[in-house]
Amino acid sequence: MAASAETLTPDKHMVLEDEWTIVLPRRNNQRRKFPKLKSAKQQQEQTHWVPADLETTPEREQKLMKKMQIVIEKLEKSQFFSVFIDQIRSLEASEYFHNRMGTKHKLEMVIYGIGSIESFESPRLQLSLATLMKRKFDWIGEIEVFDPIISLTEKKVLEELGCCVLAVNEQGRRQAVGPTLFFMPHCEAELYDNMLKANWRYENLKQIILFGNSFEKYVQHRSVFRNTALDDSRKHILSVQPFTKEFEICTVLDDYFRAFHGSSWHFFIVDENTNLQVTCENL
Ligand SMILES: C[S@@+](CC[C@H](N)C(=O)[O-])C[C@H]1O[C@@H](n2cnc3c(N)ncnc32)[C@H](O)[C@@H]1O
Repeated sequence: MAASAETLTPDKHMVLEDEWTIVLPRRNNQRRKFPKLKSAKQQQEQTHWVPADLETTPEREQKLMKKMQIVIEKLEKSQFFSVFIDQIRSLEASEYFHNRMGTKHKLEMVIYGIGSIESFESPRLQLSLATLMKRKFDWIGEIEVFDPIISLTEKKVLEELGCCVLAVNEQGRRQAVGPTLFFMPHCEAELYDNMLKANWRYENLKQIILFGNSFEKYVQHRSVFRNTALDDSRKHILSVQPFTKEFEICTVLDDYFRAFHGSSWHFFIVDENTNLQVTCENL
């Protein structure tokens, strides 16, 4: 099942889609309960974390592991995955991936907001995508994962899949001291904003690759629904968007739409001359 790892070399397969279904980042209609991000003051605190659900059994873990293996296998054989991989390998995108890495050989992957892989299919698909990327590309290094709702069963399965589950709630504030891929599928805007704020200097931003909700869509959404309070919670997203190169993830109306719609790769095109002001006024 495991694909052989490959190095990051541009090839000629350009499979970027020009058209895609525009869906604003939103919660879907499943009955889910996600913890809201905490208040600005609480968000300063990076607290030690242990799973709230500490009940587990070997049977429960095996059942979840089996579920994950089935999803990984299904995703690997899908057209969605082959288009996804071709996009990364495409001449244009692979250059952006390559440039972020500089002279380093590995990119750390930090996964925030994966959700409950035991309860929902979208988090399983999203984790499978990250896992398959690591198997496919030898330039992806360690994978660290955090979501406050992860249960002990999920933690054990994540570890079995080769991920390290963080023991601290960083509130999305990891500093990219080296090339870092933030894999943040369908997270709340505030979590992207926290990540950007923690890295608000060109030296950090230029090392970051972000997989998450389309920043372009946040800007489009803003032009329709003006709301100062909302702008304030997204000010780093709105301010960095003009310096952002985005590659949309191509989803078609099939099993993968729910998990990946409205998602993009983001690269920040900044250098020492970039005026990194945090303001929404001119947007
Ligand atoms: C909208 S849900 C998305 C879940 C999943 N990725 C999906 O698409 O179904 C956002 C997730 O962010 C998580 N989250 C909230 N605060 C977080 C934090 N400080 N660090 C990491 N994840 C966090 C929530 O628990 C929730 O699972």
